[in-house]
Amino acid sequence: MINIELVGKSALVTGSGGGIGKATALELAEAGADVIICDINKEAAEATAEEIFTMGRKSRAFTVDVSDAIQVQEMVKAVIADFNKIDILVNNAGITRDGLLIRMKEENWDKVLSVNLKSVYLVTKAVSRYMLKARSGRIVNIASVIGLIGNAGQANYAASKAGVIGFTKSIAREFSSRNITVNAIAPGFIRTAMTDALSDEVKSQMLESIPLGCFGEPSDVANVVHFLVSGMARYLTGQVIHVDGGMVM
Ligand SMILES: NC(=O)c1ccc[n+]([C@@H]2O[C@H](COP(=O)([O-])OP(=O)(O)OC[C@H]3O[C@@H](n4cnc5c(N)ncnc54)[C@H](O)[C@@H]3O)[C@@H](O)[C@H]2O)c1
Repeated sequence: MINIELVGKSALVTGSGGGIGKATALELAEAGADVIICDINKEAAEATAEEIFTMGRKSRAFTVDVSDAIQVQEMVKAVIADFNKIDILVNNAGITRDGLLIRMKEENWDKVLSVNLKSVYLVTKAVSRYMLKARSGRIVNIASVIGLIGNAGQANYAASKAGVIGFTKSIAREFSSRNITVNAIAPGFIRTAMTDALSDEVKSQMLESIPLGCFGEPSDVANVVHFLVSGMARYLTGQVIHVDGGMVM
């Protein structure tokens, strides 16, 4: 019987104050893990940590901008001092700053690439020191189907998510001999604050492109993260799992 339980594991989930990150943090805690919450939004991070604490797990909230190298290094040091180890890392924090290329400001290009891609490099590098020493670890990066198929008005976002996929495959190869798996999830349209901001017209267009005929929920992504970080996914690395109702096949 392969273990899907995560009792005794400690997990760091970025952007876990809301949306997919919060659902993932709660899912991992439900499975028994202690979960470290990290978000740029202090109140949201503290609220998620409080929920996990009431589930009987250890938790701690960090208010961190994951695109800032110093803040990331300090957080990881503090986590190791407090939790001793990080078994699971979920790089989830992400933003959009949409616009057609002709009007896309350089600051919106830089911001999206920093928060969505540079952060994955920074947090993975800081955490992997400890995973490599432990010769064990699970890393899941939240990409997007947009990184695979592109989208008009999202050149910055698509480039960042395609970058996350390339990063995932490279690091999966680098870490494979140390029993550390690195996989990506490419969600389609998941109902969160990020997608609530879209117009009804865009939403109904998107819905038509989803074979299963409905939008996804944050828990749909969280369930796949749970699988990937569990013993069930021992033999999976360097993969991109689509969680998109069949949108991209
Ligand atoms: N919702 C979707 O349909 C969808 C689809 C594909 C991919 N994704 C990806 O899933 C991830 C989560 O998205 P979501 O829909 O839950 O979004 P969300 O906006 O609901 O949540 C994102 C969280 O990240 C935090 N965050 C933003 N910038 C940060 C920073 N610099 N440092 C730390 N935390 C930061 C926010 O405060 C927020 O709590 C993102 O990487 C997103 O690109 C979402």
